Amino acid sequence: MKDSECVAFLQWALPRLRMRWPGFRKVRRQVCRRLGRRLKQLNLPDLDAYRRVLERDGAEWSVVDSACVITISRFYRDRQIWDTLKESVLPLLAAQSIERSERALRCLSVGCASGEEPYTLSMLWRLELAPRFPKLRLRIDALDMDSHMLERARRGTYSYGSLKGLPEEWREAAFKKIGAKFVLNDTFREDVYLQSSDVRDGLPNYRYDLILCRNLAFTYYDLPLQKETLALLIKHTAPGGVLVLGAHESLPEDDTPFVSWAGAKAIYRLAL
Ligand SMILES: C[S@@+](CC[C@H](N)C(=O)[O-])C[C@H]1O[C@@H](n2cnc3c(N)ncnc32)[C@H](O)[C@@H]1O
Repeated sequence: MKDSECVAFLQWALPRLRMRWPGFRKVRRQVCRRLGRRLKQLNLPDLDAYRRVLERDGAEWSVVDSACVITISRFYRDRQIWDTLKESVLPLLAAQSIERSERALRCLSVGCASGEEPYTLSMLWRLELAPRFPKLRLRIDALDMDSHMLERARRGTYSYGSLKGLPEEWREAAFKKIGAKFVLNDTFREDVYLQSSDVRDGLPNYRYDLILCRNLAFTYYDLPLQKETLALLIKHTAPGGVLVLGAHESLPEDDTPFVSWAGAKAIYRLAL
């Protein structure tokens, strides 16, 4: 399939799925390969023929929706964000929870991929902060709509490439090397509750101290769906809680109850 054909198809299809083309520009090859496989399965000659199928068969849109799921992730992605979480955000949230006599800091990873994001958070807590806050535990709900990703998260087995951003001491403390693979130690899985769920259908019925929603809604969704997702995130953030986006993302509206975390990009706090 020619790149230009796939681009034209995506520019037609994405708005119908409430997504936006610019988010897919750099990662489109992954989506185009999946669409190519679908054409073969349906024995169709090209994307124009596929478009005609979509125009008469509403159910086929769920296949395109799944083809548009981008699953790239890695441990300690956007290092500066994790450093800010370690140095100022989590200590403040921990102090806030202790003041409220809570026993756990409740966190949410929306679009957790193969576990890289929630497991990085678990490592950060256990290796760096838990000794300072021994009475407080961290609980991380980690959601993804892709069952293959969740299966990989449950396996907790990674190649060096996805771990190479981690501080070396963390890598040594958190993984056992078996052949060429790195297997996550059980201790770092204990805080993480993996769940199959689509953020467009809502979020678990809690208010979280910390929500990570990175490289998903605010990259791939169109503006109205970004705003709906933001309203949902606001509803599920505890007073004084923090929302973290991807390093290249920002909120779709200026007028929100979130204020930027001083000196940090992509980190926002709700008023107390
Ligand atoms: C690009 S990855 C980002 C992973 C991680 N948050 C990070 O920043 O490294 C996006 C993840 O979100 C998941 N995802 C996409 N749409 C979703 C949805 N509507 N609900 C839940 N998860 C979704 C994908 O399966 C994928 O694992």
